[in-house]
Amino acid sequence: MPYETEKTKSSAAAAAAGHAMMEIEAGKPSGNGVVAGGLSHLSETLWREKTSLEIVGDVSARLTWKDLTVMVTLNNGETQKVLEGLTGYAEPGTFTALMGPSGSGKSTLLDALSSRLAANAFLSGTILLNGRKRKLSFGTAAYVTQDDNLIGTLTVRETISYSARLRLPDKMAWSEKRALVESTIIEMGLQDCADTVIGNWHLRGISGGEKRRVSIALEILTRPRLLFLDEPTSGLDSASAFFVTQTLRALAQDGRTVIASIHQPSSEVFELFDQLYLLSSGKTVYFGQAADTYEARTLSLCVMNSYLLI
Ligand SMILES: Nc1ncnc2c1ncn2[C@@H]1O[C@H](COP(=O)(O)OP(=O)(O)OP(=O)(O)O)[C@@H](O)[C@H]1O
Ligand SMILES: [Mg+2]
Repeated sequence: MPYETEKTKSSAAAAAAGHAMMEIEAGKPSGNGVVAGGLSHLSETLWREKTSLEIVGDVSARLTWKDLTVMVTLNNGETQKVLEGLTGYAEPGTFTALMGPSGSGKSTLLDALSSRLAANAFLSGTILLNGRKRKLSFGTAAYVTQDDNLIGTLTVRETISYSARLRLPDKMAWSEKRALVESTIIEMGLQDCADTVIGNWHLRGISGGEKRRVSIALEILTRPRLLFLDEPTSGLDSASAFFVTQTLRALAQDGRTVIASIHQPSSEVFELFDQLYLLSSGKTVYFGQAADTYEARTLSLCVMNSYLLI
C-alpha cells in the first residue's frame, strides 16, 4: 500500500536522522565516544563508502609540508617569490589557524596545500598526506572560499538538500541523505533560518554570518577529512565570528583536520585555535601550539603594526 510504503520510508528517515542527530548533540562520536585522531562513526561510514582505503591509507588525514616555495610569474615576465621555505604539519582532530598581514601568503599557502594554485604559480617542496605523496582526490578535502556562491532564491534547507542530491553517493538512500541534511543544519546552528531564503541584492534573506555557515555546511556534507577555509570569519561581527570558529573547532574535534586563515581574531576566538601558523612576507614567523603563545599573539600584532607604519 502506498501509505504504508511512505510510512516505512519516513520512519526509516526518522531513525537515521535520530542517529545522526544524537551523535551531533552528544558532540562526540557514537560507540565508545573516544576520538583518538579518528573520525566519528557517521563520518567514517560515509567516507569509506566512496573512497578506496588502499589508495589513500588511513581515514584520518595527517598533512605535512616541507620547504614549500611558491613562485609566480608576473605579466611583465618577472618572477616573484610568494612563499619561501615553509614547513609545518596539521594533525587530525586539530584546528590550525593561519595568520599574518594582508599579502603575507595565507591564501597562497591554503591553495598550495589543497592543489588549487593559479596557472602562473609554481610550487616546489614536499606535501605529504599520511606520509605519502598524494594528490587530494575528490571527497578527501573541501575548500570553503572567501565568497559565498549561493543561489539567492532557494531556502537554506533547499540549498543544502540540492547539494546533497548532487554530491552524495548515488547508492545512498534519499532517507539517509535527508537525515544528513537535517543533521548538518543542526551542526551549523541553522535551524532557525532553515526555511528562510538565502536572499540577493533585491530579496532580503539570511544574515552574512548565516550565509558563511551555509557555505561551510555545503562543504561538510560530504564529510571531508581535510577542511580548508579562507577567511571564514571576515566581514562578521565578533559574536558571529566566534560562533563560526566554535563550529570549526567542533568539526576538528570530530577527527577532521581543519586549516583556516583568520583575520584579526578576538581573544575568545584566538583561544579556540589549537595550532597557530604565523606568516609574514611569505615566511614562517611562528608555528606551534596557540594555547601557550600569548607572546605569539603580541608578536602578530607587532608584525601588523609594523606593516601599517611602513
Ligand atoms: N597567482 C598570482 N599571481 C601574481 N601574484 C600573486 C599570485 N598569487 C599570489 N600573489 C601575490 O602573493 C602575495 C600573497 O597573496 P595572498 O593572496 O596569499 O595573501 P593573503 O595573505 O591571503 O592576503 P589577504 O589577507 O589580503 O587575503 C600577494 O602580494 C599577491 O599579490
Ligand atoms: Mg587571502
